[in-house]
This record gives sequence, C-alpha cells and structure tokens, in this order.
Amino acid sequence: MINATWVVLLFCISFDESSRPIVIAHRGASGYAVEHTESSKTLAHAQGADYIEQDVVLSKDRQFIVSHDITMEETTNVEERYPDRAREDGRYYFADFTWQEIQQLHTHERTKRGSDTPAIPGRFPGTAGQRVVRLSDEIALLKGLDATTGKNTGLYIELKSPKFHKKEFQTSMGEALLQLLEQYGIDGQSRKCFVQCFEPEELIDLHDRLHCKLPLIQLLGKKPSDDDVVNIARYAQGIGPSLEGLAIRTPSGDIESTGLVESAKKAGMQVHPYTVRKEMQPSWSTSMDETHRVLVDKLKVDGFFTDFPDLGRQAVDRNTGTQKE
Ligand code: G3P
Ligand code: CA
Repeated sequence: MINATWVVLLFCISFDESSRPIVIAHRGASGYAVEHTESSKTLAHAQGADYIEQDVVLSKDRQFIVSHDITMEETTNVEERYPDRAREDGRYYFADFTWQEIQQLHTHERTKRGSDTPAIPGRFPGTAGQRVVRLSDEIALLKGLDATTGKNTGLYIELKSPKFHKKEFQTSMGEALLQLLEQYGIDGQSRKCFVQCFEPEELIDLHDRLHCKLPLIQLLGKKPSDDDVVNIARYAQGIGPSLEGLAIRTPSGDIESTGLVESAKKAGMQVHPYTVRKEMQPSWSTSMDETHRVLVDKLKVDGFFTDFPDLGRQAVDRNTGTQKE
C-alpha cells in the first residue's frame, strides 16, 4: 500500500532536477538563428535551454566579444566594411578592432572561408541586420529575459584561444573574465555559470592561481586516456568531449560506451559532450533521436551542447519523464 509520504517521495524523485541532464544551447539556438546573436540567444531562452553558451574573444580595447572565432570574415561583413584591415595572413582579427568599430558590422550565419556558401546547408540565410554582441550585453539580455519569465538561465562561457590573447595583450584572459563577472555579481551562486576552455593551462591557472569558484570544464578534441582524466579532475569539475569519443557501434549493430563517461564519473567529474545537430550525427548513431537516447538513457551524461535546444529539451523531458515549467 502506497501512503501519502511515498507519493510525495516518488514525486520528488521523478522531478529531481539534479539528475536530469542540462540542455546547453550551443551558440544559442544556432540551428534556427544566426549563431551568437541576440536572436539566437533569445530563442534558446524561449525554447527552455538550461544554459546558454557564450564563446568569447577580446577586442582591441579589451572588451569581451561573443564570437566563436578570433577572426571575423566567416561570420561578418568585415571585408566589405574594412577592406584594408586584414593582417598579412589575409585574416581580420577582433584583436585589431575596437568595440566601436565592431558595432558597425553585420553578422551572418557561418560561411565557408572565401565564399558565401553556408558552412552548414539550410542554416539562417542573410544577415537580417544583426550585430555582434559583447558578453556584457548578453548577460544583461539574459538577466532581463529571466526577470520577465521567472527563469534562472545559466551562462556557459568558453575562453577562446587564451594563448593567442596572452601574446596579443600580455594579459590573462581568465583573470579579465573573472573581473567582468564579478562586476555583474556572477559568482555561481545566484546565477549558474560554467567556464570552459580547450587549453588546459588556462583552466589550471584559473584553478590554482585565481582560485576560481565557478565550475571549470575541460574541453577535449580527442578521447583522453584514463590517466588524463584523473589529471583533469585535479583542476576541473567536468569534461566536454566530442560526441564521437563517447561510443562505438559494434559489428552486430549495438551501441557501446567507450568508457569515457564512466571514467570521468569515477573521477568525480560531470560530462557535457558537444554538439548535437540535426544535420550530422556521430558515427555510432543513425539519427538525432538515437543520439539523444544514447546520451540521456544509456550513457547518462550530465548535459549536452545542442544547436537545437527545443529538441534537446523535449528529449530530456521525454526520456527522464519530467516536464520543465
Ligand atoms: O564548447 C563546446 C563546443 O562548443 C566546443 O566546440 O568549436 O563549437 O566551440 P566549438
Ligand atoms: Ca564553444
């Protein structure tokens, strides 16, 4: 016989948010709107993303700009607006432009370098007059949207190319980021915030020298060894591996874990793989639904990056039997 206490307990267990993977909107809802624009961030917010990602680089006047690339020509009309400002390598660097200059640019969906061909066919066409944004603008946008909707959306900030920035500006990108976040009262308490990076040296500096209180995520381009995982756990709270390194499809057609998720969890870390997209699946999966099922049901990752936060949200809620308000 199930009494009232058990009913309450079962309800709490089934709605335990901590066991539900987080949906991280990759560059916003970038499957639908131009990556890293206010539009893609606002849409991601409306689609129920738990966290929204900001890749950041520095401008000449040391403003944090939300951009995946340190260069501008694949996502803006910089070549048309500032034709004489390329470096010898033919690239246009955010580090060479002030925020005032960057504001004059239009931003568009990523194209293949040297052409107008979209990097991913079918993505948002044209510019629709959209602009590059600063991290401070985006924080204000998300705070405002949270205030009007009653949500508490997390930031998920990636420091792009800290070594490049150190060389350009003789400064620590991580240190500058913590200073900015402090100005906005972002300490991981009232607003959730992860800091992610591919360069381990920057995360180690954040952990060892700067005593960063925000959770750190080590991004990984290739599958690490078990020893690497143990080393990462010394300074980071989690890993961000590519989807490819998580599983294999056996000759009999079964999907099996490579053991990476298990190793990371054994070392006490979270696992947030990147990136779920409609247009391409890892080699072990034949459909986006299958990718979602493996991530949520089989591997039980702690979260995942997706260009389609609405579909990620649905998959998490369906597979975990919860419905986010
Ligand atoms: O940060 C997770 C994922 O975004 C890493 O890949 O190249 O899209 O920044 P990238
Ligand atoms: Ca990223």
